[in-house]
Amino acid sequence: MAKTMLLRKPMESVLLLVNIRRLLTLSSPATGPRRGRDLRDLGLIEDGAVLSVGGKIVSVGATRDALRDSWIRKNRRKLREIDCAGKVVLPGFVDSHTHPAFPAPRLLDFERRIAGATYEQIAEAGGGIRCSVEGVRQASRSALAEHVLAGFNAELAQGTTTVEAKSGYGLNLDAELKSLEAIREAARQWPGTVVPTLLGAHVVPREYEGREHKYVRIVCNEMVPRAAESKLARFVDVFCDRGAFSPESAEHIFFAAREHGLGVRAHVGQLSRCEIAPLLKYDPASLDHLDHVSDDDVAALAAQSTMSPAYQTVATLVPGSNHFLGLGRFPDARRMIDSGVPVALATDYNPGTSPTASMPFVLSLACTHMKMTPAEVIAAATINGAHALRLADRKGSIEPGKDADLAIFDVADYREIPYWVAADRCDAVIVAGMLKAGGNGQ
Ligand code: NIG
Ligand code: FE
Repeated sequence: MAKTMLLRKPMESVLLLVNIRRLLTLSSPATGPRRGRDLRDLGLIEDGAVLSVGGKIVSVGATRDALRDSWIRKNRRKLREIDCAGKVVLPGFVDSHTHPAFPAPRLLDFERRIAGATYEQIAEAGGGIRCSVEGVRQASRSALAEHVLAGFNAELAQGTTTVEAKSGYGLNLDAELKSLEAIREAARQWPGTVVPTLLGAHVVPREYEGREHKYVRIVCNEMVPRAAESKLARFVDVFCDRGAFSPESAEHIFFAAREHGLGVRAHVGQLSRCEIAPLLKYDPASLDHLDHVSDDDVAALAAQSTMSPAYQTVATLVPGSNHFLGLGRFPDARRMIDSGVPVALATDYNPGTSPTASMPFVLSLACTHMKMTPAEVIAAATINGAHALRLADRKGSIEPGKDADLAIFDVADYREIPYWVAADRCDAVIVAGMLKAGGNGQ
């Protein structure tokens, strides 16, 4: 145990979890995002214990060893201790794809779809993403921040402690910056970690209809530089698909992002196939959706395993959108995993295609519809989510030196997390070593 660290910190910042029936550390000798069989390695410890000090994990092991430790024995009555008997503890989920900066649900779209219209037909008829834009442009920053915070809190309640959050319903310079500011305002009021992303290229706004290249110029020359200067975004995202932006536009935007020191990620292959090889030149942290993906694309993603983790691209699958759109088909996760592509799972929380902030629900969808195993979905939602945000040095596993972000589930077996469909079995969440929701902490 790191005794020097213990001596310098006040006792209130020391947290000990004991009697954890099943502790999923996600620690593994593998470096980089988990691929193939490594995705099943949960680093499981029975009757485990975790000690955190000052928000960082200090030691992880068996309860009996922790309780034998001389420092713990001496200080046990002074530190904060949580008895996790009968429960599962895992790293807080890393939800690496959300769109929380929207002002209202899209209920008309919902009804149109129930009546038989497709997502694209709804967008062509004036619904879809553009429908959320007026509300964002009119909303005050603080009103928008309240909506964002509500989304973050819904995430936390279900075990998520790190969230990526995109703008993308403003579609002009002011409204995109306002959305990112709202994300920052909400992030300051939320205990977890927020990774902000500029998605100015979500769809071509009405006023630029038929003039995609002009709008892309605004994204590249105005939005990206302003978001970078004011440190409002860490990533830039593009919706590259039929009815959204072309691969050429995506490359222009990626180039601008790189020039301004921002990372890149993209929505690809949701509605139609898009060749990803040209995008891989920009080292995207993640390519998301991938409902339509060729064997060449799968091979290109798998072939990155020898590269440094800082350049590898994770395939982030978002089955919540397939489910909510009633598509009856899901991304081919088995083909990707079995070919060696690192897969993450995320909610894609948004008002048009996936109004859920529940990672456990998404994991359940991935098991049932994508034939991922319970172990694979947990690794995809933790350590691979962290890689998809290039945060794996701090997040995604329970290992000494990492942030003490943990989820405690009131289940005896980790397989119950995806098994209990649309249930709320998250008992408590610990963020930076502090108990934030529920729990039986004494
Ligand atoms: O990931 N595909 C683009 N963006 C979202 C949908 C956004 C919306 O419809 O509001 C998605 O599915
Ligand atoms: Fe999305």
